Amino acid sequence: MSETFFVTTALPYANGPFHIGHIMEYIQADIWVRFERLQGRRVHFVGADDAHGAPIMLKAEAEHVSPEALVARIAAGRGRYLEGFHIGFDHWHSTHSSENTALSQDIYRRLKAAGLIYSKPIEQFFDPVKGMFLADRYIKGECPKCHAKDQYGDACEVCGSVYAPTELIEPYSALTGAQPVLRTSEHFFFRLSDPLCVEFLQEWLAVAGHVQPQVANKAREWLSGKAEQALGDWDISRDAPYFGIPIPDAPGKFFYVWLDAPIGYLAALKSYFDSGKARANGETRSFEAFLGAPDTRQVHFIGKDIIYFHTLFWPAMLHFAGAPYRAPDNVHVHGFITVSGEKMSKSRGTGISPLRYLELGMNPEWLRYYIAAKLNAAVEDLDFNPADFIARINSDLIGKYVNIASRAASFITRHFAGVLEYPSGTEELTLRARELLEQVRSSYAAREFGRAMREIMAFADRLNQEFDARQPWVLAKDPARREALQDSCARALYGFKTLTCLLAPVLPAVAERAARELFGLDRALTFADALAPPRRVNPYQHLMTRVDPKQLDALLEPQEKTVSETSAPPAPTPPAAIATDAPATISIDQFKQIDLRVARIAAAEQVAGADKLLRLTLDLGTETRTVFAGIKSAYDPAALVGRLTVMVANLAPRKMKFGVSEGMVLAASGPAGGPFLLTPDVGAAPGMRIS
Ligand code: MSP
Ligand code: ZN
Repeated sequence: MSETFFVTTALPYANGPFHIGHIMEYIQADIWVRFERLQGRRVHFVGADDAHGAPIMLKAEAEHVSPEALVARIAAGRGRYLEGFHIGFDHWHSTHSSENTALSQDIYRRLKAAGLIYSKPIEQFFDPVKGMFLADRYIKGECPKCHAKDQYGDACEVCGSVYAPTELIEPYSALTGAQPVLRTSEHFFFRLSDPLCVEFLQEWLAVAGHVQPQVANKAREWLSGKAEQALGDWDISRDAPYFGIPIPDAPGKFFYVWLDAPIGYLAALKSYFDSGKARANGETRSFEAFLGAPDTRQVHFIGKDIIYFHTLFWPAMLHFAGAPYRAPDNVHVHGFITVSGEKMSKSRGTGISPLRYLELGMNPEWLRYYIAAKLNAAVEDLDFNPADFIARINSDLIGKYVNIASRAASFITRHFAGVLEYPSGTEELTLRARELLEQVRSSYAAREFGRAMREIMAFADRLNQEFDARQPWVLAKDPARREALQDSCARALYGFKTLTCLLAPVLPAVAERAARELFGLDRALTFADALAPPRRVNPYQHLMTRVDPKQLDALLEPQEKTVSETSAPPAPTPPAAIATDAPATISIDQFKQIDLRVARIAAAEQVAGADKLLRLTLDLGTETRTVFAGIKSAYDPAALVGRLTVMVANLAPRKMKFGVSEGMVLAASGPAGGPFLLTPDVGAAPGMRIS
């Protein structure tokens, strides 16, 4: 029996919905999984939520829910995205699960028995108010080198120096502001620096195909201790309170989230086996037998930011835990997706919302094709550019691919009742199809999806040129040239069928519809079908529409935010946000960057079509501004006119659906209601600066 694949994508943190970066990773993996299946390979494709760790615990606390409830809420939202983009995980699980507890504890015990775990006391900052040890990200203070204020515990963002949190001057807890105290506690370590480990990893990295060459180089730098992140032993324990898996025989100690997260790949696989789905997918072996089999190929798709964990810790953990655990066969690393050249920021909410994409009725296969067309096997970033997106979809998918079928099929339906004949023979066409099939197959296998799409589109170009050269619309007028008409159309449709088979990993829904509606098959197309000439077609039905540039405008336009987002000051930052971008405290200098002014509401109007917004004209004494404020639910526009309020005068203008908003008014809101617009005390005048 040939190799069976066990494929995963990185497990997303369960503290928020998917963003476009996740979707890009899943599309890449899904295309590859579909490709392997279309050429007859058995694949088990699983995913899970990464549920543990301090940020999730603190976020749940801030929302007054249990971490389990928070994680369950996020998990409940996953299906819409996955189905929406045709991402076909066979199973989705969670690291907060009995399977993961059992597997993590098992692997830990084996590593301990192998002499690779030890413990030693560590002195660390402790927040006496919160009653917990503080990770570096939760400690701030003055940089010991350049004396910049409010720098994180691990590195200074101003001068770039790296230090221990204990070196900070006047450190404080980012969670409570309290002055942290040093406390000692026992920590557990994985002996990554052990010569046995280093030697094993050197060997593992040297095997071609385990990781891409540039990834192996990066990992080797770490191994040799030359990189900024020099190789040390790995601290795998955290003290209670922590949302995680208890360490056996160590009360009050939990595994650090990055220990149990990759084991979550195996937990998801185990749960998939236990659910009976693996059996339904043709797998008769037990979970352990499958995992340990030499012909099982364990493949991970991940982003470039988590190489360290996947090319050092993870292979070493698996290898030294022993059978049935085995180091991964492939770790495929991709770059990051940017939008119009800009990095996404979770906290600023830029980028493209995958859910909005679907809600706008945009075709998920457009995005799949666009991403495929821009992906290669290297660790390169990929830019989503709206103009490029429109051009590629409309010219490639519609203009080149779909166009062939719509033009050729209509002649066949009208003149030949759907029957395809090949008066000039099919031999040469089959040869061509075979050549293309081999090219595209090797491009997919090498994850050179962009190259595969170029090969496919070059073939489509050729079909269109040949079709046009024979001028079927002229042939159709001459009964004596019926044969030539049928020949030209049949050849084009044969080519179209080949293309459809080869595009099926990227366009699964289109391929499915073409198989059923156009070719009248009662099963899906596989790569093997690429060579077989079709013998009849049904009347053509629309397979795909063009992208309307307006849809992209709507996708990229900043959203009409909810009331609290447009008009209220940010809610007290939940500590969890520290791990993303927003600092929990700001310096006075940072505060001074906000130009707050007294403004007089000169006019207030309803906005046609907006549920939440009012259009305000604000008088700043020397100028007026138009601001869209999300306060419609609470204020009658007429009652606002003449009132003084407070605005942020230096907010970058934002293009909204209804016009440009040139600032923001401030309002309060909370569980008790709102928004409540702010008003300065009597005596304040338009334009006055607030400080
Ligand atoms: N929970 C960890 C992974 C644990 S794996 C055992 C994690 N989660 S994440 O939600 O932050 O990221 C999940 C995946 O999304 C990672 O592979 C990451 O590289 C990828 N991406 C995050 N932002 C991305 C882009 N902007 N573009 C492409 N992929 C990106 O890390
Ligand atoms: Zn500094």
